[in-house]
Order: sequence, then C-alpha cells, then structure tokens
Amino acid sequence: MTWLVTGGAGYIGAHVARALSEAGERVVVLDDLSNGLPERLPPEVPLVRGTVSDRPLLDRTLAEHGVTGVVHLAAKKQVGESVERPLAYYRENVHGLTVLLEAVVAAGVRRFLFSSSAAVYGMPEEDPVTEDTPCVPLSPYGETKLAGEWLVRATGRAHGMATACLRYFNVAGAARPELADLGVSNVIPMFFDALTRGEAPRIFGDDYPTPDGTCIRDYIHVVDLADAHLATARRLAELPGGEDLTLNVGTGRGVSVRELADLVAEVTGVREPAPLVVARRPGDPAGVVASAERIGKELGWAPRYGVRQMVASAWEGWCLRHPEAGGSGRGVG
Ligand SMILES: NC(=O)c1ccc[n+]([C@@H]2O[C@H](COP(=O)([O-])OP(=O)(O)OC[C@H]3O[C@@H](n4cnc5c(N)ncnc54)[C@H](O)[C@@H]3O)[C@@H](O)[C@H]2O)c1
Repeated sequence: MTWLVTGGAGYIGAHVARALSEAGERVVVLDDLSNGLPERLPPEVPLVRGTVSDRPLLDRTLAEHGVTGVVHLAAKKQVGESVERPLAYYRENVHGLTVLLEAVVAAGVRRFLFSSSAAVYGMPEEDPVTEDTPCVPLSPYGETKLAGEWLVRATGRAHGMATACLRYFNVAGAARPELADLGVSNVIPMFFDALTRGEAPRIFGDDYPTPDGTCIRDYIHVVDLADAHLATARRLAELPGGEDLTLNVGTGRGVSVRELADLVAEVTGVREPAPLVVARRPGDPAGVVASAERIGKELGWAPRYGVRQMVASAWEGWCLRHPEAGGSGRGVG
C-alpha cells in the first residue's frame, strides 16, 4: 500500500510516518508546515507542502503517488485556542477533512485512518473510559474531533471505504530527541518549561477525589501510538469496505499529576523549586483513564513503554531545543 500521511511533519505524524516506512509501507507526507518540521521526516519519505483544503493539490498528490490509504493527522489541536477561535478550528479540522474526504472518494482510495482524541468524551463519568462511554466534548476542539469521526464513518459506509478513528489519550515522549513535541500545552513540557525558567511547576488543584488529590490521566508513549497506527493500517488493509473501527489508544493505567511531578524531578535532577499547588482549572475532570481492552482484542496491540520512558525521552528532546535546561546537575535519568 501507499499511505498519505497528512500532518506527517508534526510531532505525532512524524512518528507515524517513520513507523509505517520502517515497516516497509510506502509513505508520502502532506503538511502545510504551519506547525511541522520537514527535518523530522526520514529521507525516503517525500514531503508535499500544502494544505488539506487544497483540492487540486490533493487530486495531484493522490494520483501521482498512487495513494491507496490515508492517515489523517493534520489539524489544529489547542483546546484553549479553540474556545477563542472556533471558526478557525471548524474550518481546519472539519472543512479541511471534508475536502480531503471528497478527494479521497473521487480517487477511489478505500482505507482511511482518522486521528481523534479523548477530548471527544469531555468530562466522562465512567472509569475506565470505554469506546461506548457517551461523547460530550467540552471544547470546540473536541467537537471538531467528534464531528470528524461522524464524517469519516458516514463517508466510509456510503462509499465502501474501511475506516478507523483512533482516540488518543495523553501523548508524550519521543523516539529520538529531534522528534519531540515543540509545544508547551501538555503537562510534561509545561513542567520542563517552568523548571528551565527557575519557576515552580504548577499543579492545578490537589483536592480532587483521587488518592493524592491531583488529577489522574492516561499517558501513552508516542512510539506506542505510532505502532498502534501501523497495526490499524494493516488491519484496515484487510477489512471489507464500509467497515469501521473506533478505538481508544491509552495504556489503561492512570498516573496522577503529583506522581508525574515526582518523576520529572527524578529524571531531570531538578528538585527546586518544588511544585506549587494552585487553584483548579475549570473543566478539568478528576480522572480520565482509557479502557484499552478493545484495541488489544481488535489489533493485538499493547503498549510497551511506561511513563518514566516518556518523561526521560521528552526531557532529552526538550534539552536539545533548550540547551540552557540541561546545565550542571541536570542530567537525563
Ligand atoms: N498531541 C496530543 O496529545 C494529541 C492528543 C489527541 C489527539 N491529537 C491529534 O493528533 C494529531 C496530530 O497532533 P500533533 O500533536 O502531532 O500536532 P502537531 O501540530 O505537531 O502536528 C500537526 C501537523 O499538521 C500540520 N497541519 C496543520 N493544519 C494543516 C492543514 N490544514 N493542512 C496540512 N497540514 C496541516 C502541521 O503543520 C503539523 O505538522 C492532531 O489531529 C491532533 O488533534 C493529538
């Protein structure tokens, strides 16, 4: 097969493009580089620079590269920004997907994998969260991911395409330092950022109904996530047209923010200033942990890496971009 990976120059996309390519699949990446880096791609993977909303470019790319399957990761992903700029999020994440699906249907592509998110669940009341837990997204970002799932499934059924929606939980870590996440919107880079500036990492609330009072999340190593894409791609290649899969990608293990802060201190060797507990953030659920049962059964996939490896590899990537952070006494654990 030949896979078009949209957003393949991004943090997760570059790991997915590499995993597919290393497993012997042909890969072409389409990325507008709004948040991507071409140097993340291995030399054998061609990069087409442009947006998924550009229909003529999509038509050319699908035809010229003989694309037979699509992994669609290109999207805007900041929850807070989506509240400020809902129109931009709907345009990029929903309109962009519509244009891509139209091109894919016209080209006769029969396999489509969509990058969804645990944000579709909002504030889930079930623990662990299964794929049947009601989806009540709390932000425009989460809404665009849920609407994206609907679009993908409906298109697959109507046009005989096998589809998969992967709902990622909290993605962290890197296969190698150059591939690390550049943003500081997730808790691990937020902790690194504070420590690099000599400030106390902030913990938002320690009065939640959890064992240590801090929020619990399910962290998934980006290498495991990329392997889940490879397993899904292989499964899609066998599935009859019109079939769909919706799968959580998490470990099924919860880690509290306090535990994470302790691990960050251990791995970085930076223990001062100690974390500071501040007020809760509105809309933060106490615990969100995936049930990873369905993906295990469907794909035989299981995560291989733990949270320590996520923190250690993320720190190596952070130090590459922030050499001042890796100074004396601050080693990689
Ligand atoms: N990072 C997470 O924790 C997380 C969690 C759940 C879901 N996701 C989803 O995973 C996907 C990838 O996230 P990421 O963390 O790698 O983000 P990222 O910003 O690093 O990667 C997104 C890539 O898409 C590109 N892009 C954006 N809009 C585009 C467009 N219109 N046309 C072509 N390219 C475009 C960007 O340049 C970037 O390279 C997104 O769909 C995101 O919603 C991420």
